[in-house]
Amino acid sequence: MQKLNSKVTDSVDFFQGINPYELVEKYGSPLYVYNERILRERCREIKNLVSYPEFSVNYSAKANSNLAFLEIVNEEGLNVDAMSPGEISVELKAGFKPEQIFYISNNVSEEEMKFAIDHNILMSVDSLSQLEQYGKLNPGGKIAARFNGGIGAGHHEKVVTAGKKTKFAINPEYIPEFKEIIKKYNLTLVGINQHIGSLFMEGESYVNGVKAILEIAKRFDNLEFIDLGGGFGIPYEKSEEQPRLNIKELGEKLDKVFDDFVKEYGKRITFKVEPGRYISAECGLILGTVNAVKYNGSNKFAGTDIGFNVIARPVMYDSYHDIEVYRKSNIKSEKNEPVTVVGNICESGDIIAKDRVLPDVKEGDLIGILDAGAYGHSMSSNYNNRLRPAEIFIRENGEVVLTRERDTFDDIFKKYISLR
Ligand code: LLP
Repeated sequence: MQKLNSKVTDSVDFFQGINPYELVEKYGSPLYVYNERILRERCREIKNLVSYPEFSVNYSAKANSNLAFLEIVNEEGLNVDAMSPGEISVELKAGFKPEQIFYISNNVSEEEMKFAIDHNILMSVDSLSQLEQYGKLNPGGKIAARFNGGIGAGHHEKVVTAGKKTKFAINPEYIPEFKEIIKKYNLTLVGINQHIGSLFMEGESYVNGVKAILEIAKRFDNLEFIDLGGGFGIPYEKSEEQPRLNIKELGEKLDKVFDDFVKEYGKRITFKVEPGRYISAECGLILGTVNAVKYNGSNKFAGTDIGFNVIARPVMYDSYHDIEVYRKSNIKSEKNEPVTVVGNICESGDIIAKDRVLPDVKEGDLIGILDAGAYGHSMSSNYNNRLRPAEIFIRENGEVVLTRERDTFDDIFKKYISLR
């Protein structure tokens, strides 16, 4: 087996000496592969982001909610956020206690609110109408609320979640009405939260967002916590030496902002952050097989089994992922050349990378789509009645374990009810 361009995975010893072909032969192609050591490293890095003591990291499980993945995050001593009863359920299964889970809701049903209340899980509401509904269901209870500090950020307009154009959070101009509803139902507002958007590479936009929510926080007495949201970016273009987010500098800035705030607020409170991608993206990659190579005019296409049902990010947000090529035979790659890497879904838009310069890809090569641990499997689907891939972990000791089976046809068909 040859690795034709594996600078990125080699630099972090991703495969720990394991041959990628052996993995797909055993677990099928395409396949999600996670590295436990890298996941643990990222958890620890974020846990130590600041020196302010009352600090908590809620891993944002929407990025990757695989049970074993959450078990490792739990072992690392992080807390979690949840976006749905489904995420709450898998988090409880992974061993998180109700008090470690923060349910950040958006437009949820009464039934979903009851689910959180019955499980003693604190939730945040993000509109006056949902606050009113919550008050009726749980008068005298504890609640948090998501506010819009007006400053959004993100890698694509679809993932900017603050500012004027978003469906999320409560605009601070409604704080007087908000306080009335709190009083009417005798609720205790224990915390406020925000999330400005996903993937910033400069700490400054995050810190500006933090300052904005802290201004809002000053309008409420006796808060126990302020949750500042996630969005911490990772460098997807590592092959092009894209620099990392400067976590140390960001941590120092946050420490200063926290200290200044508590002096003015007159009470030490807990600050929380909610990173999803930063923790989960870089410990995961997808292995897939090149089933066909063809030319259309001067365009070379590498046709793989990694359709947008397997990874939606490139199609949904034009996202870039580094790509590596592995080859079973000894046939050398003669040159690097542009190739459009596509999947097997019946849509022209099913493109993972357009005109990417790669070694001369051949039938039977394996492709690695890097940094796919976040919003990869969690956004996969059965479109075209395709099977979602298995997920495996390379453990710290080099052992390989299956942590989610590949779908079977039965998984898809068992829900159908025949007319005959
Ligand atoms: N907190 C809240 C309330 C969120 O909505 C999100 C992400 C996070 C935390 C975590 O954000 P992160 O640290 O992962 O950036 N599917 C898109 C990203 C969508 C993010 C949705 N909300 C992507 O693949 O880029």
